[in-house]
Amino acid sequence: MIHKKDWWRHAVFYQVYPRSFQDSNGDGVGDIKGIIERLPYLRSLGVDALWLSPIFPSPMADFGYDISDYTGIDPLFGTMDEFDALVLAARHSGLKIILDLVPNHTSDQHPWFVESRASRDNPKRDWYIWRDGKPDGGPPNNWLSEFGGSAWQKDEATGQYYYHAFLAQQPDLNWRNDAVRTAIHDVMRFWLGKGVDGFRVDVIWHLIKDAEFRDNPANPHYVEGRPPHEKILTQYSTDQPEVHGVIAEMRRVIDEFDERVLIGEVYLPLHRLVTYYGNELSGAQIPFNFMLLSAPWNARSIEKIVTDYESELPVGAWPNWVLGNHDRPRVASRVGKEQARVAAMLLLTLRGTATLYYGDEIGMQQVAIAPDQVRDPFEKNVPGIGVGRDGCRTPMQWDATTSAGFSTAKPWLPLADDYTHENVANLDADSRSILSLYKALIALRRELPELMAGAYQPVAAPGDILLYRREGADAAIVIALNLGTEPVSLASSSIGFWREILLSTFLDREGEEIQGALDLRGNEGVILGRSAQAG
Ligand code: NOJ
Repeated sequence: MIHKKDWWRHAVFYQVYPRSFQDSNGDGVGDIKGIIERLPYLRSLGVDALWLSPIFPSPMADFGYDISDYTGIDPLFGTMDEFDALVLAARHSGLKIILDLVPNHTSDQHPWFVESRASRDNPKRDWYIWRDGKPDGGPPNNWLSEFGGSAWQKDEATGQYYYHAFLAQQPDLNWRNDAVRTAIHDVMRFWLGKGVDGFRVDVIWHLIKDAEFRDNPANPHYVEGRPPHEKILTQYSTDQPEVHGVIAEMRRVIDEFDERVLIGEVYLPLHRLVTYYGNELSGAQIPFNFMLLSAPWNARSIEKIVTDYESELPVGAWPNWVLGNHDRPRVASRVGKEQARVAAMLLLTLRGTATLYYGDEIGMQQVAIAPDQVRDPFEKNVPGIGVGRDGCRTPMQWDATTSAGFSTAKPWLPLADDYTHENVANLDADSRSILSLYKALIALRRELPELMAGAYQPVAAPGDILLYRREGADAAIVIALNLGTEPVSLASSSIGFWREILLSTFLDREGEEIQGALDLRGNEGVILGRSAQAG
């Protein structure tokens, strides 16, 4: 039995990228009223919580990840009244709202930074990270910005450099300063007081940097053609031991309110990732597990990822899985259209909280962006090597009308060519579409306690078959996923007593009783229950 305060354990989270979800006022950019209009859709999909990428006032250098006011709403997205209406309407629809908290950096237009850069003795000087250059005038150390170039920007007014892990328009806050901590805690309380259900914390592993700002070591494994910031490791600029104290403090703020959740964005190897649950689980309840975003798409690799993750989880820690987000290529393009359905079954049958990225439920593809359509600052700074994130941020495809029902104007990013077929209206009308599959999977997950909370038990299987059981207190189910394109026959002994197909990714075998071996088509996944006849 899962306690109410732990609702997030069995929840399906859905990431809305607000700029691209639904435009209600005809400016080509999505907004809050648009999200309200689409709540019935989200309810019908069956998800439990919406995570909204940033909607706060911002010069939009990094499309909202450069915040100039933490407690406001950018007029592009609407008003505070509309936000309050969204929280209320979401609650009526049984949906929770998670906001994006971006505490590592602000916009350079944030009043805190405007003050900080004004003079060396400004009271807010130490809210950011200022250092003298090297004697030769160069930057204080060799740290690199993730978006290209040095991570240090010289500010002529005071002759010092400030640190920015991302764009120069995104100066890093100094989390060793208690006043910064208090200010962000108050931001959290502001939104929690308004009824939001938690935060996804941007680059949480970046918050604390080495106290001495030592040079980072070179990356001996750097591969030519990869983003330039990978030339050095981030030994001293991220994942410092003191970050866990900072996160535990944030968690205490979360715990001042009932039933809230702290989700951390963490791109780190597994053994480091799991430390973000914190000492005695005092950290994030959900440190995002991004391992499926870069997993080689074959059964043995994924089986190893799942087994390693399950075995490294700290005692009492709850797992989670993510298939896509606004920074990574679309899953349907990474694994292919056919396997996208298998990926959906994987995501929603593994043990742990699942996070869906908007549009993945309709199989949205990575869209090719012409050079003159590029909006992403990462692609602009580091062009031509495929780092651009615009292609996974294109407008949601609602229907076959102009602008896909997303807007009455030209959308801020181009639409996928296939939108006239691949859209919510069409796929909803097709009982075997990927959208129908997502709905069926989410509904089944809600129905079966063993899917929601049962233990994960891998079962040996040949070739490109991923086979596992989810074992609840009273019952178990079996999941068999064919990650290959060829048909495969699974011996009767592999599936044991589980002989009734509860769901196939093709949505055409429900209720079928397996007599001998289990025949799977290429790209087919099935969920098996114990049939009534099996005894
Ligand atoms: C991670 C966010 O997901 C990404 O979109 C953003 O550019 C960086 N953090 C900087 O905030």
